[in-house]
Amino acid sequence: MPKILVPIEVALGEARVAATPESVKKLVSLGFNVSIEKDAGVAAGFSDESFLNAGSHFFSEANGDSLKQFDVVLCVNSPGCDFLSKLKHGAILIGLLEPYGNQELAKSLTKYGLSALSLELLPRISRAQSADALSSQANIAGYKAVLLGANALDRFFPMLMTAAGTVQPAKVVVLGAGVAGLQAVATAKRLGAVVSVSDIRQAVKEQVESLGARFIEPPKLDDESSGKGVYAKQVSEDFLKTQRKQLLDQLSEADVVICTAQVPGKKAPRLIDEDMLDAMRPGSVVVDLAVSQGGNCAGTKPGETVLRNGVKLIGASDLPCTVPNHASALYARNLLALITPLISEGKLVLNTEDELIDGALISKDGEIRHTQVMNLGGF
Ligand code: NAI
Repeated sequence: MPKILVPIEVALGEARVAATPESVKKLVSLGFNVSIEKDAGVAAGFSDESFLNAGSHFFSEANGDSLKQFDVVLCVNSPGCDFLSKLKHGAILIGLLEPYGNQELAKSLTKYGLSALSLELLPRISRAQSADALSSQANIAGYKAVLLGANALDRFFPMLMTAAGTVQPAKVVVLGAGVAGLQAVATAKRLGAVVSVSDIRQAVKEQVESLGARFIEPPKLDDESSGKGVYAKQVSEDFLKTQRKQLLDQLSEADVVICTAQVPGKKAPRLIDEDMLDAMRPGSVVVDLAVSQGGNCAGTKPGETVLRNGVKLIGASDLPCTVPNHASALYARNLLALITPLISEGKLVLNTEDELIDGALISKDGEIRHTQVMNLGGF
């Protein structure tokens, strides 16, 4: 019976957990023996007792339990080198492992002979949708970004007709219409704002309009391929210059700007420069979800709010952690969807012929399979 461990997350500010009592029950019924570290779910609202009732055991290194017994470790963030060094050769680590440029992780995986599935690299195909943790977490980030923006704004979001006169609705500009951006559009619309959206992929125009927002046509692309397909490709600096010029007018009228524009594995495009910030009205707000990838907006800092000439710049780096109960519930279901087809005759098999596994498997028994991804430079 394969043994799974769900450790407590140790990253600063992390409140999510990689399993819930619901997912533990299902893992147990699939034939796994599940152990969880004490207090692992508490910050996400799941008590130790609820995990025990779901059929898991407690794991405690302090009580002499060994990490060597586990075949699989389900995590949100990658555990540190010390933890990885105590796993057995061939153990499988599954989580949001931040593989891009992560040479430290690559070293540990090689040194300790570990296998690792990094959910960031799952291919974006229909079959992978239920396991797509980037989407489940980006959805939460998009929603929460709008709430943060509304909370920081010095105006209402909806149009209000009061005895004291009419208040115009807030103007929200969303940059990037991927999963987070579309959820931001939907949330801002629900709150009554007037929403405009910029994206370089023409394919999203219809989705944006179906949510009741206005699509800002991008400048003509220098590279036609950048606007096609599921992912955006990195555009040239000249293109970005034209795009910034085009966005200047929109920003000068905006109350809240939600930045979600990203290109997987690359530095986020700089869509708001200092001149554009100068044009924004004091009291307006920028929420930058791309801040950890270098930021769409000049001057944003991860986890900080910077006041610049009255404009609030919110560097929103870890929003899913601020909705930990639902974020964990969705994430745990993503992991379950990924792991369910891996079990065959009571054993966990990493079938590299399966494109899902092939895409996400960054190492197998210590051998790095995505060298290019893991050698990328930092942002
Ligand atoms: P992302 O986080 O990589 O990027 C966010 C958005 O930023 C993208 O829409 C991208 O076009 C946009 N962007 C990049 N450069 C820009 C620029 N200079 N100006 C304005 N916008 C810019 O994308 P995310 O959210 O991870 O997903 C991308 C798309 O993948 C989704 O919209 C969806 O269509 C597709 N998808 C497919 C799935 C599946 O089939 N399993 C699952 C999830 C997403």
